[in-house]
Formats: sequence, C-alpha cells, structure tokens
Amino acid sequence: MCPVKSYRMGQCANSISSRRIRITGPARRTPSPRETLNGARRTDLIRTKQSKLGNFQTRFCPQKSHFSTHLSPKTGFASGHDSLCEVANNQSPQHLVARMGQLKVESAFEVLVRARALEKQGRSIIHLEIGEPDFPTPPHIIEAGKRALDEGYTKYGPTAGLPELRESIARYVSRTRGIPVGLDNVCVVPGAKPIMFFSMLALLEPGVECIYPDPGFPIYESMIRFTGATPVAIPLVESRGFSFDLDLFRSKLSDRTRMVILNSPQNPTGGTIPPEDMAQLAAMLRDRDVIVLSDEIYSRLCYDGTPVSIASFDGMQDKTIILDGFSKTYSMTGWRLGYGVMPLWLADAVNTLMVNSNSCTAGFTQRAGIAALEGPQDCVDQMAAEFRKRRDAVCAGLNTIPGFRCPLPTGAFYAFVNVEGTGISSKELADYLLNEAGVACLNGGAFGAHGEGYIRFSYANSLPNLLEAVERIKKVSPHWSQRQ
Ligand SMILES: Cc1ncc(COP(=O)(O)O)c(C=O)c1O
Repeated sequence: MCPVKSYRMGQCANSISSRRIRITGPARRTPSPRETLNGARRTDLIRTKQSKLGNFQTRFCPQKSHFSTHLSPKTGFASGHDSLCEVANNQSPQHLVARMGQLKVESAFEVLVRARALEKQGRSIIHLEIGEPDFPTPPHIIEAGKRALDEGYTKYGPTAGLPELRESIARYVSRTRGIPVGLDNVCVVPGAKPIMFFSMLALLEPGVECIYPDPGFPIYESMIRFTGATPVAIPLVESRGFSFDLDLFRSKLSDRTRMVILNSPQNPTGGTIPPEDMAQLAAMLRDRDVIVLSDEIYSRLCYDGTPVSIASFDGMQDKTIILDGFSKTYSMTGWRLGYGVMPLWLADAVNTLMVNSNSCTAGFTQRAGIAALEGPQDCVDQMAAEFRKRRDAVCAGLNTIPGFRCPLPTGAFYAFVNVEGTGISSKELADYLLNEAGVACLNGGAFGAHGEGYIRFSYANSLPNLLEAVERIKKVSPHWSQRQ
C-alpha cells in the first residue's frame, strides 16, 4: 500500500457516524438551562471551541439567545453567522458537521442566477461568466448516446467504467501524453470533478499540506479545506504567462506536502505552464513523497503548441493523477463524463469511493464517450480554431478599454483581464458591468486572493456577442476613466 494513502480510506465500511466522530471530534455535552431556547435542546450546535478542522466555532449568541456558528474570515464564509443565526429555530442546519462550513461554491453559478434574474426583468445580458463551450455536442456523439439507450445501456454498470471506454481512454492518454496507460489505471466518473473530490478524500487529511495555484479553480481550495488538510496557495505570475515563480514554488514544498495541484491550460487565467517550467517542476517533485493532481481538462484547447503533462516526465507517472474528461473537449458538460488516470493502488481507492457514492457512471453516456474518442476529431479542431479567433478579437477589443490590460491567453477559453487601472475593485467592477452594461463576468478574487484586480471573461459566446460586450463595456467606461 502506498504510504501517502490517508487514514480515512480504511473506514469506508464503517458507519458514517463513527467516521464523523473521528474526523471532526466534536465534544458533546448536555446544555445548561441557560443554553436552551424555549426548552428546546441545542446540543447539536455545541462543538469544541476550535474543532480539529479549525476555523469553525460555536458559541452562545447573547443578542439572539441561541447558539450561533462563526466561521473564520479565512474561509470567506462571512454569511455563516447570520444565516445560521436566522435558521437556529429550524431543525436541519443545526445538524451540519463542522467541515460543511469549509465548502465554497463556484461564483459562476451565482452570477448566472443574478444574470437570469435581470433577464427576467427584461434586461439584455451577454453571458461571459459560465465556463462551458457554447457549441452543441457533435451529432455523431449524440447519435451514439441515443443508440446506446435503444440498446439497453440503461442499467447499472461496472463501477470503474465500461471496459471498452476505459480501453479507449487508455489508448488516447497513452497517445497524447506519450506514456503507457492500461485499462486498470483508468477510473471513469460522472464529470471530471469527482476525480478531484475522490483523490483528495483519499489522500488528504489534517496535518498534511496541499499546494495549489492562486488564482485557480475554486473547488481546489474548497475541497482541500473540507478534508482538513492545509491549503498552500502559490500565486500565478502574470508576467510569466500565469505560470509559477519556480523559486517560490520550491520554497513552499515541505515534508508535510502530500499533494500538488497543477492546472494547465488554466482556469481562470487561460495560461499554460511552459514545457521548461514543467520540466523543473518534475525535477523538484520526482524524489518527493507527493502526488500530483494534474488537471488537464483544457488540454485540447491550447493555442501555442501542445501542452505538456507532468506525467510525461521521467519518474512522474507513478505519482501523478491525470484529470481529464469530455465536458470541454467535446462540449459535453451536461453529459457528466470524466476520468482519472492514476497508479493502480490509487485507482482502487477511487473506485471504492465511487462505489460508496455513485455506484457507476451512466452507461449510455459512456457509449457516447467512446464515439467521441474513436470518432472524427475535426469537431474538436474546429471548436479550438473558433475559440482562437474569438480570443484574438475579444482580447484586442478589451485592450482598447481604459484601465484594462488583457494578456493573450494561450489556452482554455478565458480572458483574465487586469483591471487595476480602473481604480475600482474587481468585485465592484464585475457587479457594475453586470448591472449597468449587461455583461456578466466574474471577479478574479472569486478564484483566490491573487485574482483580486482581475476579471475573468469567458469567450464561450459568439463573436458578435463578444464584440457587442466590448462595445457595452466601452460605453460605460467613463464611469471610471473620468474619475481619474
Ligand atoms: C479547471 C477545471 N477542472 C475541472 C472542471 C470540471 O469539469 P467537469 O464539468 O467535467 O466536472 C472544470 C470545469 O469548469 C475546470 O474549469
């Protein structure tokens, strides 16, 4: 068994309650009469002052005469206190375990809800917030999914995925990354996200550290905190094409580092880690007792050559989880189909988590996945070419707006624009652009502290809409340019 497997993995057959007690260790006691409200017991709100996970405290709220939950500002859950105060008389939220306070949501979905609400009021909104290709799923893939339904792929299937899809993925990853991959290295899951979730549950625990990029996909930090491990954010540097400062990276490695998350091409910056940086990262990590979670979901959307996987470097395949899937490459976000490629001992653990949670991924979706990998690839090339055209146009347009600086992204479909020159915080500006210009976009700060001062525009929208968005922003730009 690999030494980096977390203690939690030995408990899958145990009851949830005993697992909960071991992880959060809440100290329970009988409340005094003063600690009850209208005679109702509030024991479920009583927890240790500082749980093992840290950042979560429960105390008696004198103003409102009940127990309330305070979350550290570090978690970004400022609303925790108020919302839990307000619901103190309802039953269920009181039973939430401490670690639930560590989970974050994706701001893209929140902004989408606000944008839709404005549309309901009759406002015209251009959606540049959501990270999903606007193209339909290619017809031959849809046909394969329909055919599979007719053929009866409507039942439970193998937990790790259909062997024919795993074979197909193994061949594809071997070819694209230049490494030998076997069917047993492949875990098929519903969307790529569960690979993040499962590998972190399997490998992280209190006392260990996980390095991740900042700004980065918000679920990384959320999940690291959820496991109780310590998140170690490493800033991405705009002047290096949003790659790491390698000296800083080296200085953050410690004996406690158990996992390193890489994401290239990257969300939200659109940057890619250049091959020479990747080689140095591999050299730093090769002899360490760490696992790399290499998020390569945008690997087919790269405008400057082919991105290099860290798994391709000598000695790295045995310590790397490649996360990839069908959502972005084949415009299949709603099909929920993704996979991880990893060492066998870890694949066993991920499959165990999968059987404990999902049982299996939908069979007809997997059949569509085979058609995607084995069928014609010109649909992917056409999509990438279209994204490239839009990237060039939208970045050129955004660079004409006062106070905006838009570096040319090398991958994915995001422009990460430095807006410090506007003199307005990126949060305020993103809100202003939604409300006043009708352009939905995301505050870079939602991707980590080092994303402050940036706004992410997804160019997964038509060229005319993108140009219209630029015009709309230009129109409202006197709001900040005339203030200076
Ligand atoms: C960097 C990154 N990784 C993983 C995912 C999740 O992909 P999926 O929708 O297949 O779960 C996303 C989705 O936006 C992403 O941006």
